[in-house]
Amino acid sequence: MAKEKFYITTPIYYPSDKLHIGHSYCTVATDTMARYKRMRGFDVKFLTGTDEHGQKIERIAKEKGISPKEYVDKIVEWVKELWKTLDISYDYYIRTTDEKHVKAVQKIFKKLYENGDIYKSSYEGWYCTPCETFFTERQLVDGKCPDCGRDVEKLKEESYFFKLSKYQDRIIKHIEEHPDFIQPPTRKNEMINNFLKPGLEDLCVSRTSFKWGIPVDFDPGHVVYVWVDALSNYISALGYGSDDTSDFEKYWPADVHVVGKEIVRFHTIIWPAMLMALDLPLPEKIFGHGWLIIDGGKMSKSKGNVVDPKVLVDKYGTDAVRYFLLREIAFGQDGNFTNEALINRINSDLANDLGNLLSRTVGMIDKYFGGVLPKEQKGNDFDKEVIKTAENTVLKVEECMEKMLFSDAYSEIWVLVRRCNKYIDETAPWIIAKDESRKAELAGIMYTLSEALRITAILITPGMPNTPDEIYKQLCIEDEELKKWESAKEFGKLPEEVKIQKGNVVFPRIDIKKELEELETAMKKAQDESAAKKENNGKKENQDEIITIDDFSKVKLKVGEVIKCEKVEKADKLLKSQIKIGSEVRQIVSGIAKFYSPEEMVGKKVVVVTNLKPVKLRGILSEGMILAASDENGNLKTITVDGDIESGSEVR
Ligand code: ME8
Ligand code: MG
Repeated sequence: MAKEKFYITTPIYYPSDKLHIGHSYCTVATDTMARYKRMRGFDVKFLTGTDEHGQKIERIAKEKGISPKEYVDKIVEWVKELWKTLDISYDYYIRTTDEKHVKAVQKIFKKLYENGDIYKSSYEGWYCTPCETFFTERQLVDGKCPDCGRDVEKLKEESYFFKLSKYQDRIIKHIEEHPDFIQPPTRKNEMINNFLKPGLEDLCVSRTSFKWGIPVDFDPGHVVYVWVDALSNYISALGYGSDDTSDFEKYWPADVHVVGKEIVRFHTIIWPAMLMALDLPLPEKIFGHGWLIIDGGKMSKSKGNVVDPKVLVDKYGTDAVRYFLLREIAFGQDGNFTNEALINRINSDLANDLGNLLSRTVGMIDKYFGGVLPKEQKGNDFDKEVIKTAENTVLKVEECMEKMLFSDAYSEIWVLVRRCNKYIDETAPWIIAKDESRKAELAGIMYTLSEALRITAILITPGMPNTPDEIYKQLCIEDEELKKWESAKEFGKLPEEVKIQKGNVVFPRIDIKKELEELETAMKKAQDESAAKKENNGKKENQDEIITIDDFSKVKLKVGEVIKCEKVEKADKLLKSQIKIGSEVRQIVSGIAKFYSPEEMVGKKVVVVTNLKPVKLRGILSEGMILAASDENGNLKTITVDGDIESGSEVR
């Protein structure tokens, strides 16, 4: 029987920056799913790659004085190395600069044009280059990009447009009829209520003001909008539009596109509309995962808070880093990355629980039996529960993995690991060992532990591809049949005469204090470097726009205390705060909901511009502005006062 196929993808990454542990997070999770499906007998296609066109890349390359292609080539090399370090088992790496992809995109664009889904007009509106996204005036928040809060640029260009609006109802229908299409389900409501229901506008899909993109072949002054270019990778990689479409016929539609939450919109609206226009089936599922947060913000290079995955892997090994990413954060939600949490996980789960279980088991078989268990074995009262736990664990892990709930899957496996450690304490083999007549009973205990370890090794394999080999080596398991997923379902497959070969400690304990000091020194260095860079930029700005003290004093700034704060319905960027400024209370709406929860805002003493003309934002009156600092990477912090001072105090 032919194997069932499973097609899974990561986003294709922008090579404008070195990738960090945040990007690795998405790729590790996708890899884990791909490996799991392979173990379950699927014919898996796992795609990843890089999104190499666009204005942002053209600009960076220019600043560096090299061609965009030279610039991206270097980064791609680095990215591929990173994936090797993290044991990412992708089947195909696509670059949007590949000839095959370029041709496919040109064909797609032409087809949409010929079918009347793309038409020529002119674009007037706003563009956020870092996000490579178009916005209308009314979508901006305080004149800035509603996604990242950075400055946008006014554009007026002759452009091609894609009839996105035409597909609105079909997309809504599809989402509603396929409850699994967008996962987790909260993201589905967000798409329907915030984007689809308010109405879609046709999408500008070509640019003429820069060159670094795929030329529209029938109108060469235009390059294809990067998102149309990028999304097409999922089918161009399969040979869509080429002479050999066999992979496309076999693997499309995708079983799951794994993407970060901020790009769910592109994958659940623009991509389905493109596919509908091409008369192709839609992917089964879009899984929108959360962000890895550090110090309260999304990890980003210029903030100096990026964690270099290569450094972590060097220090702790691939499997430890992968385990942490999968286990620590529920897939779908945001999660904090801290070095401390990483080291704690390694020490408690890997060194204490799993590492100890292996070394105790192997150590006892060595000590009590000279390394080989006798065939004569006897069970004990505690076996039944361990066996039941092992068998249940396999089923629970399967259930979690199918739903991509990696953290839950691993916590189930650790239930078994911990149960085994408890079993050692319950049976107290060191006491039994003193009694020659209880040899068979002692051997039975060792067998139960060895078999549970074999099953554990199988179950952890998708996320931790290296550790199982060390376990198999120490338990001298060579038979490939005993390493297969299905064989984990039957407790007792391991032949009784277990042999061991003492080996390395799989996860040595880490001295947390010493380690944190080392890591923090390295981190601080990176932060200082980026701060120095920022300062230079600041100086340049000062010379450009000098104002007098009179100009400055026109702006009235006061300290205000946030006494109440709530989300603005249907505006996921906005918070509405009641701010006490001396004896008065004012209502201010600010685009900070992505960075602060209402609870975090209450009690804060912030700096408020009090003589700003009141405006209505989404129909809500806003009388002033809360000051905040933001960087080019979309981080934002409100300006607060450094100590206790009365609200209403003037800021000068
Ligand atoms: O968006 N935590 O590329 P990209 C978790 N080229 N995930 C993170 C993260 C973090 N701190 N930082 C980034 C693009 N990511 C487009 C995709 S697909 C047709 C085109 C994730 O390099 C992010 O959520 O900006 C996204 O899914 C992925 O990295 C690529 O981001
Ligand atoms: Mg991004």
